[in-house]
Amino acid sequence: MPYKVAFSFADGKTLFCQVQGNEILLDAALRSGIKIPLDCREGVCATCQGRCESGQYTQDYVDDEALSAQDLAERKVLTCQTRVQSDAAFYFDFDSSLCGSAGPASLQGTVSRVQQVSPTTAILHLETGAVGAALDYLPGQYARLKVPGTELRRSYSFASAPGASQLQFLIRLLPSGVMSDYMRERCQVGDVIELEAPLGAFYLRHVDRPLLLVAGGTGLSAFLGMLDQIAVQGGCGQPVHLYYGVRDAADLCELARIAAYAERIPGFRFTPVVSEPDADWTGKTGYIAAHLDVAALRDQPFDVYLCGPPPMVESIKTWRSDHGLEHSRLYLEKFTESNS
Ligand code: FES
Repeated sequence: MPYKVAFSFADGKTLFCQVQGNEILLDAALRSGIKIPLDCREGVCATCQGRCESGQYTQDYVDDEALSAQDLAERKVLTCQTRVQSDAAFYFDFDSSLCGSAGPASLQGTVSRVQQVSPTTAILHLETGAVGAALDYLPGQYARLKVPGTELRRSYSFASAPGASQLQFLIRLLPSGVMSDYMRERCQVGDVIELEAPLGAFYLRHVDRPLLLVAGGTGLSAFLGMLDQIAVQGGCGQPVHLYYGVRDAADLCELARIAAYAERIPGFRFTPVVSEPDADWTGKTGYIAAHLDVAALRDQPFDVYLCGPPPMVESIKTWRSDHGLEHSRLYLEKFTESNS
């Protein structure tokens, strides 16, 4: 017997579909034209996540870096792994418009520049011509790039605002990794790279509260895209505080670009935090959560955006609940080092 499932979204819209017995929820949604953002379809990336508000379900495989035990207790689900066992309702923390687009497009970009911006980070610039300039993505979303000379794909957040003449991606250079090896050893201006975009449900919502942006490592990429867009608009009418955590001070990158936001975005503040500093570092040390201003945030509604590795994301989530700051709205994107 088919079940009736409701999908409700942050913009207040609700869409319905029928799910056949034992059918994967995501497949049923796609069959009904509800294009839930997705990527891996293997229970790993968490792009397709929602929260069950009523009804019974099971999940096939959920990677523990996609959803924590706490997430599972809160009935968060990965729709690519979910099978409903009754009529049910699910909530998604993004607007329904994200599900109605034509979905990700496949395109090609030509490498126009490779910028090594720290010993561990490079920015890949891709010229995509009119197709790329017209690519309809939201700052914070990501693209999946096919690594030249391989069949492997890796995902990177846009470090440029939509409509820019070139796409930019911040890429962490691991000691060994398929994209890292390509960037270090083979990448040349003129190389053609296939990509699929836009992907993901992490994006800058309408801003009506102060913004707390927390980046770990190359998680900065998503915020560069968002801040470029805010800067182009001359600000967002709210204060914006960017925290940027890295292990070593030498890993900090794009500092001149970030400093320029202070000129272009009223109320912009920036705090870099280094977890394993050498003797020359005079700024904040340790982990970002230790430096967040709880007193200032306790009575102030705010939106927090997190993008970085799972331990950083989990530490900020814990900080938020430990200090009773659930009145803030939380949006997050976790990534793993295998992304590089
Ligand atoms: S699409 Fe990656 S977890 Fe569902």
